[in-house]
Amino acid sequence: MAERPYIVGNWKMNGTRAMLSEARAIDRASQRYMKVEVALAPPFTLIHAVGREVEQIGVGAQDCHAEPDGAHTGDISATMALDAGAKFVILGHSERRENHDESDALIAKKMAAAFDAGLRVILCCGESAETREAGRAEEFVLGQLRASLPELTDPQQQLTVAYEPIWAIGTGKVPTAGDITAMHGAIRGVLKERYGADNAEAIRILYGGSVKADNAREILDLPDVDGALVGGASLTAENFLGIVLAAV
Ligand code: G3H
Repeated sequence: MAERPYIVGNWKMNGTRAMLSEARAIDRASQRYMKVEVALAPPFTLIHAVGREVEQIGVGAQDCHAEPDGAHTGDISATMALDAGAKFVILGHSERRENHDESDALIAKKMAAAFDAGLRVILCCGESAETREAGRAEEFVLGQLRASLPELTDPQQQLTVAYEPIWAIGTGKVPTAGDITAMHGAIRGVLKERYGADNAEAIRILYGGSVKADNAREILDLPDVDGALVGGASLTAENFLGIVLAAV
């Protein structure tokens, strides 16, 4: 695990102001675990409000547009997310890739827009069940990364990678320890090719997909797993803090 593991909650399309108390509780408890970096990515509508509620944890966005501004009804630019209080953005989540037809090329453009605006990026990658069953998981995931990783001035600060097998998201299924270790090691290899060994060692690689309090420690103890990107179990402070505690 990284020197400072990173536990990120992705609220997806969940959350109204009634959930601000959960963010507050997560923040207050996280102040006791400074060894762990904790962050939440609420929906756009709550970024500003969550940012006002919290002192310790990071706040981020779940997506941004590839353009800095313009006629894009309903979209949010990286600068707008930053202005609302986001410090990072999740890009390339499989739900964006599937539901909005996002390609690696578009994700690369969004990454450039995010970095231009001064946001850090959590870049998601992951294979479908069919791809894994066909024995092509590693080739597919590394291809996603190679197609979207940009040149960076400060890769250690700017970039986090999240490996999320699509078939593990929200299903209760988790890859074997061997499969997670192999994929994270292969991802580290691509980061080395692109950014050199020192940077690659320092870039955190998160695992995402059905992480819960009761499996978090086992997953976080695996080689090259530096944290977790958590969906369903980040929606209540009680569940999410169980995962944060596993990283302490
Ligand atoms: O962004 C989070 C992931 O998609 C994982 O979601 O923890 O509900 O499986 P999950």
